Amino acid sequence: MRFSGKTVIVTGVASGLGRAVAQSLAKEGAKLVLVDRAKHQLEDFVLALSSGEAEAVEVVGDVSQEKTSKQAVALALSRFGTLDILINNAGINPTGTISQTDPTTWQQALDINLKSAYLFCREAIPHMVKAGRGVIVNTASIAGQRASTAESVYGVSKAGLIMLTRTIARDYGPKGIRANAICPGVLESVMADRLTRMSADQIAARDQRFAPTVPLGRLGTYEEIAKATLFLASEEASYVNGAQLTVDGGLTA
Ligand SMILES: NC(=O)c1ccc[n+]([C@@H]2O[C@H](COP(=O)([O-])OP(=O)(O)OC[C@H]3O[C@@H](n4cnc5c(N)ncnc54)[C@H](O)[C@@H]3O)[C@@H](O)[C@H]2O)c1
Repeated sequence: MRFSGKTVIVTGVASGLGRAVAQSLAKEGAKLVLVDRAKHQLEDFVLALSSGEAEAVEVVGDVSQEKTSKQAVALALSRFGTLDILINNAGINPTGTISQTDPTTWQQALDINLKSAYLFCREAIPHMVKAGRGVIVNTASIAGQRASTAESVYGVSKAGLIMLTRTIARDYGPKGIRANAICPGVLESVMADRLTRMSADQIAARDQRFAPTVPLGRLGTYEEIAKATLFLASEEASYVNGAQLTVDGGLTA
C-alpha cells in the first residue's frame, strides 16, 4: 500500500474528484483529514470511510478562510502526529467573459481557487520543513494553461495556482518538499456549482461538442484524474517537482 502510514489533507471531498482521490488514498492505507464546506455530505462520507478500514476525520469549513487551514493542519498533527501530503482540490467554476463577471464573483473565484491553496500551503509547509519532507498537489486545470472561452476568472485563478505551485517547488525543494499541479481536461462530470446553472440537455450538448475534439475521443473520468493525482503524491514521483501534469486525453496536445 503506497500511502500506508502517511497523513494526507484533501480539500473539496464532498463530491467529485476530491471524493475519488480520498477513496483511492483510503484504499492505499492513508490517514485522512478531509475538508469541505458541505457539512452533511462530508460527515456522511467520513462516516462511510471510517466504517471500513480507513482512518479519516473531517473539518467542515470554507477553504478560503485562514481558520479552516489552521484547523486542518492542527487536526492532522494532533490526531495522526504527522502531515505528509497536502492536496488542494476544492474549487468552483464560474463562467463568463470578464464583462460578464461581476467583482464579487471575481473575488470569490480567486479566494476559493487560489487563496485557499496559499493558506493551506502556508500552514502546512513549516511542519513539512521541520520533518525535512512533504508533498503538495494542487488541482489546477487546462484552463490555467491556455485560455478557454468564457472561463475568464476560472482560468486566471488556475493559472495563478500553477504559478503558486512552481514557486513552492523552487523555494521549498531544497527543504525536501515537492509541489506539483495536476491539470485535468474536460471531465464527464460537470462541477457541482456549474450543475446549478446548466440543465441536463445543456450538459449533454456540452459532452457531444467536446468529445470529438479530444484525440482519445471521449471525456475523462474522476477516477482517471485521481490515479494521476495519487502518482504525483506518491514516492513514484520522487523526482517530479514544479510540474504541470496535464491529463486531458490529448485535448491541448
Ligand atoms: N470537473 C471538471 O471537468 C474539472 C476539470 C478541470 C479541473 N477541475 C478541478 O477539479 C477540482 C474538483 O472539481 P470537481 O469536478 O470535483 O468539482 P465539485 O464541484 O464536484 O467538487 C468541488 C468540491 O469543493 C467543495 N468546495 C467548493 N468551494 C469550497 C469552499 N469555499 N470551501 C470548502 N469546500 C469547497 C465543494 O463543496 C465540493 O465538494 C476543482 O479544483 C476543479 O477546478 C475539474
